[in-house]
Amino acid sequence: MYKAPRGTHDILPEEWPYWERVMNLCHDLAGRYGYERLETPIFEETSLFVRGVGEGTDIVDKEMYTFRKGKSDLSLRPECTAGTMRAYLEHGMHTRPKPVKVYSLGSIFRYDRPQAGRYRQFWQFNVEAIGEIDPAVDVEIMSIAWQVFKELGFQGLSFQINSTGCPRCRPEYENQLRLYYRPHENRLDGDDRRRLDKNPLRLLDSKSPKAQPLIAGAPKISDYICEECTKHFMTVRRYLEILDRSYTVNHRLVRGLDYYTKTVFEVYAEGIGAQNALCGGGRYDGLIEELGGKPTPGVGFAMGLERVILLMKEQNIVVPDLPRPAVYLVYLGDEAKLSAVRLSESLRDAKIGAQMAFGSRSLGAQMKAANRAGARFVLMLGEDELAQESVTLRDMADGSQELVLLAQVTARLKDDIG
Ligand code: HAM
Repeated sequence: MYKAPRGTHDILPEEWPYWERVMNLCHDLAGRYGYERLETPIFEETSLFVRGVGEGTDIVDKEMYTFRKGKSDLSLRPECTAGTMRAYLEHGMHTRPKPVKVYSLGSIFRYDRPQAGRYRQFWQFNVEAIGEIDPAVDVEIMSIAWQVFKELGFQGLSFQINSTGCPRCRPEYENQLRLYYRPHENRLDGDDRRRLDKNPLRLLDSKSPKAQPLIAGAPKISDYICEECTKHFMTVRRYLEILDRSYTVNHRLVRGLDYYTKTVFEVYAEGIGAQNALCGGGRYDGLIEELGGKPTPGVGFAMGLERVILLMKEQNIVVPDLPRPAVYLVYLGDEAKLSAVRLSESLRDAKIGAQMAFGSRSLGAQMKAANRAGARFVLMLGEDELAQESVTLRDMADGSQELVLLAQVTARLKDDIG
């Protein structure tokens, strides 16, 4: 028996009320904030991610699904930002009014160790604002995430922010981190030792138990960031306070992708296990230039939909049922079946949801199926009905029945369904 590949999952029909609720909210909120949809391919040239996300990150070094076809070296996208920037450059979107505000909703692929809330194929709602340095945009981006969680009715989230500085001030902080860590190098595991040289900021995000006391005593970036970054960060905080947002400044918050500058943020939930980051993002003022464009600031975030849905279930968030068919057609005899096929199609033409029984089941079995489908009305066709060019309309709520002329049944149902 085949199974879905490890780390992937099917979304069965009974799960869709959750997915529809979240996805509809994402589209709705993106629209309310003025973000337009932009979808990029599921795979891109590998080098886009190597340059964009960064060599030396776990995502690029360990987690990409990379393959060769013809002369191309391709990878399934391990995130959306690099692809979105590639599209921005490729289509000359810099000529549009700034910031260019776009979002996408789709599958992401990372070859990571699967566990609760961590998949190898998962969904992200990804939002980007390109071309504007104003800290108010950072706050708008955070607000979209905030609003999704608020409108879903989540409780007890932890909203954490930090500034990771810029290419002017970060090197000095990285130096300080190296100086601090160097004497303790033998206490670091292999991955962390490599980070010490290549990307010391990531040491602050180490999951190794041995590294935790070191992280606690490490120098804080806030003591090293330049005046411009400090001012930007203070302004972001001021806006958050004006909006009455409760948040924590987490000096250890760094992100797993290299492109971040200045603001970074993550939102965490309780009760869904160790993989509790619902979303994360920040500014990437150097990314477009890194990918060959003119210096262009940007800020964005991505939200993991599987984790959001895990939390909806954990917090017993009620979701609306998916719409049920309004009408179910049952019949007795071949002539009546022909008539049912024709009538069900004309109901759908008239935008009325209609299903019909199949096979040659008894009328009782067909009525049971209508019940199970949750139909509001059943239309019954038999010899008598055919003789009178009519159909029996049964209201499933109260069991009342009446004969309605075939020529009038569509209009009648439209009235009843409203
Ligand atoms: P990220 O933090 O790598 O950021 O991923 C964003 C979110 O995707 C996480 O907070 C989490 O909810 C979800 N996620 C990540 N990995 C997994 C996984 N293996 N299984 C399930 N969910 C997962 C980015 O991807 C950046 N591109 C975000 C961004 C956009 N920054 C600026 N613009």
